Parts: sequence; structure tokens; C-alpha cells
Amino acid sequence: MYILTIETSCDETAAAIGLVIKDKVKILSHVVSSQVKLHAAWGGVVPDLAAREHLKNLAPTVNQTFKKAGFSSPAAGFNKIDLIGVTSGPGLAPALITGLNYAKTLSFFWKKPLVPVNHLEGHLYAPWIDEERELGLKEDIFPALGLLVSGGHTLLIEFKSHLKYRILGGTLDDAVGEAFDKVARIMGLGYPGGPVVSRTALKGCPDFNFSVPLRSSKDLNFSFSGLKTAVLYKALTLSKNKSIKEILGRAPKPELDLNLNNQQKADLSKAFEDAAVAALELKVLKALKMKKYRSFILGGGVAANKILRKKLSEAINKNYPELRIFLPRIEHTGDNAAMLIPPTYLKFVAAKLKKNSGKFVDNWKKIEIDPNLKLAV
Ligand code: KG4
Ligand code: ZN
Repeated sequence: MYILTIETSCDETAAAIGLVIKDKVKILSHVVSSQVKLHAAWGGVVPDLAAREHLKNLAPTVNQTFKKAGFSSPAAGFNKIDLIGVTSGPGLAPALITGLNYAKTLSFFWKKPLVPVNHLEGHLYAPWIDEERELGLKEDIFPALGLLVSGGHTLLIEFKSHLKYRILGGTLDDAVGEAFDKVARIMGLGYPGGPVVSRTALKGCPDFNFSVPLRSSKDLNFSFSGLKTAVLYKALTLSKNKSIKEILGRAPKPELDLNLNNQQKADLSKAFEDAAVAALELKVLKALKMKKYRSFILGGGVAANKILRKKLSEAINKNYPELRIFLPRIEHTGDNAAMLIPPTYLKFVAAKLKKNSGKFVDNWKKIEIDPNLKLAV
């Protein structure tokens, strides 16, 4: 079965073509057109600007995806496509609408079934699109513990079986990726913050540390807002900029230039990254203690963080050596459409099994976006 997927939930326009044979997923092509540079000037993603860029980029991205999959154009390849998958949420409403409408148009003209997919679900399906692993959809790796870390989410999830999830914990305030982005802004390091903060942290050797958020809480929740504020106040203390010191206590704006030197930035980055990673590791270990899992899956943009990958692997290997660990390939950590292929296929098959195959005739009419779409309650 050939599947085309489209993703436009935030600031990446992405498309992919995959093939499911027996129970293996093969990605024939996946293309991501990033808008990061455009939004960097604003210090974060501007929803309307993102939507305008998606409109501009969707057709070229889909064209390129067909070309990379070996077809001269979408017109030459669409006959092969059996199914279309699209992100319907969560995400930015204006951005989601562009991708869904594009997918609906293709579904209508090409007469192909359309499957709405939850973006978070896509991140959790990264293990099945890892070519080197060749993980079969029928292989039993469940129950799996999932940690989803991105700019919008920080969730611990019990992945019970295909398409079945239970939320175990989440952030009470900022997502961990958002905290990386805000900390980068405090130090004037640019956007997105994750990659630059972790690069800057490499030279860090701080003689201070930040306390690990919710270290002694009994639940599986996270909090990163207090840690970000602790970084801001430490930065103000280190800053040589007197005028800024003077306004301490008047909620200084993070855009302020604190005149930090490179070593101070490195030390702040390292202390922040260590505390953020420790908070994630702590709750992963706590969740693993509460129930027996067969595997652990990491997903989302922050999954690119090297320290996080290392610390989690070491801690799990040490305490639960029998557990299978699935870290996504770096190219699949950020938003992409390849990750939508396994859930698109599985949802389609599950609906067919329910003997309501008629559901997929012109079903595009009923699909709507949901910016706050939940994975489970
Ligand atoms: O999954 P994603 O691409 O988009 C959302 O769905 O939010 O995640 C983007 C987030 C951003 O906050 C970015 O700063 C963070 O992932 N990120 C990282 C790293 N690379 C990206 N955070 C920490 N370390 C990294 N290396
Ligand atoms: Zn994402």
C-alpha cells in the first residue's frame, strides 16, 4: 500500500511517500521545507506568517516528494497512491488548515481515502520508520513508555498497543522545548533555542547549578517555567549591564541585551540543560518503576538533544537492561511527514476491520482541524 502524508502543524511544510508491505514500513521519500529562518527574526513562530508560507510551499514540497520517490510528477504518480494521511492537530490553527485543505483537495480530485492523524501520535511512531531497525508493525514491543518532548508538549505516555495511549503526566506550564527557546532568548542566542543552547553548553563549566524542577513530587508531571526564571535571575546577577540590574524586580523583558560574555552563556546553558534533562530522566525512571514496560520510545524535537539521549539510555540500560530503547533518528526528531505513515496505515486498516469501509468514500468532507487535539485523556 502506497501512502502520501502531509504535515503543516507548525513551521515545517512536510510531505512523505511510504510503502507498507506485509508489516514493514518503507519510506520512499520525505521532504521538509523549514521556515525556521523566517520566524527567527521574530524570536518564535508567527502563526499567520507560517500559514502563508505553507500555502507557498505545499505544492513544491509535494512535487519534490513525488520526484524523490521516483515519479516525474504528482500527476505521473498519483495512481499509485492508495491512501492520504494528514495532520489534523494539535498545532497552530492557520497552519493546520492549509495542510488539511491541500490534502482534502488531493483526496477529492484523486478519489483517495483521507486519514486524519494526531501530530503527537506521529512523533511516537518514529521507531517504525527507522530504516536500520526494520521494526515490523506486528512486532510486540508493548506496552511501551513514551516520552514526547517538543516545543509545545512534554508528555509521558503509556503506549498500550497500536493507536492506544494513556497520558501519565505532562507539563504544568512551559514545554521543555519552549524553555530551551526562552532561555536562548534571555542570552540573545537566537531561535530555535534547543540546538544553540546545547551547542553553547559544550563549553560550560558552571560553579552553580539549578534545582531540578518537581524533583520530589510524587506524580509524573513536569514544570519548566520556574527553571527558566531561575536562569533569567542568574543571568541578571552575572550581567555587567548596570541599567538592567537596576530594573531587577520589574519583570525585565527577555529580549534585553544582558552583555553576558561567552563563558557566562556557556555556564548558564550547561546548568540549565543539566537541570532540564535531569527532570526528564527522573520522571522516566519513576514511570518505569510504577509498571513493567517492554520498551521506551523517545520522540519530538528535543529528542535531538545529545545529553538527553545519552542520559536516558545510560539510566535505562543500567536499571532496566531488558527494556528496548527506541531513540529516533535525528532527521525524524523535528516535525516531518514520514512519521505519519504508520498511524495513517493502521487507522485505515482498523476502520476497514470495523466493516465500515464506506466511511472512506468522500470522507474528506467530515475531517476538521483541532488545534487542541488530545492524544488521550
Ligand atoms: O517537534 P518540534 O520540531 O516541533 C513541535 O512540535 O514543537 O520541536 C521543536 C522544539 C523547539 O523548541 C527546539 O528548540 C527544540 O525542539 N529542539 C531542541 C534541540 N533541537 C530542537 N531542544 C534541545 N536540544 C536540541 N538539540
Ligand atoms: Zn512536533
